[in-house]
Amino acid sequence: MEIYIVDWISLIVRWLHVITGIAWIGASFYFMWLDNSLEEPPQWKKDKGIKGDLWAVHGGGIYEVAKYQGAPEKMPEHLHWFKWEAYSTWLTGMVLLAVIYYLGAESYLIDRRVADLNQLQAIGLGLGFLLGSWIAYTVLCISPLAKNGWLLAAVLLTLGGALAWGLSQFFSGRGAYIHFGAIIGTIMVGNVFQVIMPGQRKLVGALESGETPNPDWGARAKLRSTHNTYLTLPLLFIMISNHYPMTYGHAFNWAVLLAIVVITAVSRQYFVLRHVHIHRPAILGAAIAATVILAVWIAPKPAVTTGSALAADKLAMRAQSIIGERCSSCHAAMPTDEVFTTPPGGVMLDSVEQMQQWAPRIKARSIDSHDMPFMNKTNMTDEERAIVAQWISAGSPAT
Ligand code: HEC
Repeated sequence: MEIYIVDWISLIVRWLHVITGIAWIGASFYFMWLDNSLEEPPQWKKDKGIKGDLWAVHGGGIYEVAKYQGAPEKMPEHLHWFKWEAYSTWLTGMVLLAVIYYLGAESYLIDRRVADLNQLQAIGLGLGFLLGSWIAYTVLCISPLAKNGWLLAAVLLTLGGALAWGLSQFFSGRGAYIHFGAIIGTIMVGNVFQVIMPGQRKLVGALESGETPNPDWGARAKLRSTHNTYLTLPLLFIMISNHYPMTYGHAFNWAVLLAIVVITAVSRQYFVLRHVHIHRPAILGAAIAATVILAVWIAPKPAVTTGSALAADKLAMRAQSIIGERCSSCHAAMPTDEVFTTPPGGVMLDSVEQMQQWAPRIKARSIDSHDMPFMNKTNMTDEERAIVAQWISAGSPAT
């Protein structure tokens, strides 16, 4: 019952997280596009202090957008700020992290094949990585290093690699990936909260009192919003990565993560340039080529059959009993596992027909990657995997 309630909380918070995340990233994509699509206004608008002009049609109406050089003639009564999208995405994300990975640490965060942690240690480490990384990033951004944007980026990327490796030494593959994502998200929202918003508040304050805004505010905000731009696509990948065990389940999952972060950040560059009418399809081409190389590199190796191959009739029986023994505590109409009380992913392996039906996915999850049994909770051995592999490659016969 308790787990049933937690599942509902998780469902509702995840739903909110996706909604607020769409609103946040959507608004940020929109403003990037807007800024880069502004055209030179006619003279009468220039005389009013407008430096960029844009017309659009959407939802049955024509919109006129004007970007001012400084303050408008009269400050509007209602000025819309875009911040709660970011804050609420972070807040719901932290609740999800706590509900799924901290409350459920034994299931999702701790993998005893990686490190023998208890729940408290795992949570402490997770929060420590989060806070520590955010502090390190903040210090680097206000250090003299920040004067050279490229050098800073190189240092951050190196530290990011070290972080990915470090997380993979303590947590399950999923746990490591989600923490890396939570850290990126925290840095991005922190940038909005600590730098971008205060800068805008000062800007608006100065405009309201007729002063010239200090250009330093803009420069500082610019660095952080540039970081946010390049972190967006990696962040979104990480948030969907837990559907793809070939990434987080790989022996070098930290290197795979780093490779995907670089590839997705570089693909962003294509869109950044396209917004200013520079077309560099080679960037996307390189990103696609790198993805193919990565996919080939992490492709599952053919399973090695250890020992003598079993005779066909024995093989079928043996493989089915292994699946029964190692998988059905969770994957059954009535699971006996204390955490997974309904068959995860809708996969039930009670009968031979069901095992045959799911054979390709059984291969993907427990042979090609060792992602199943979940955290190897039921202690499946390599020899057993080899027998199941042999059975599946023989066409998963019933007998
Ligand atoms: C301790 C519980 C547990 C055990 C034991 C377990 N699984 Fe799973 N399985 C899960 C969970 C949780 C999910 C859903 C999360 C996911 O998809 O990553 C899942 C999802 C799956 C899926 C569906 C997703 C897909 O890729 O189509 C397959 C197939 C699967 N498991 C196969 C297996 C096999 C084969 C075994 C035994 C060798 C096994 N599982 C043992 C918990 C378990």
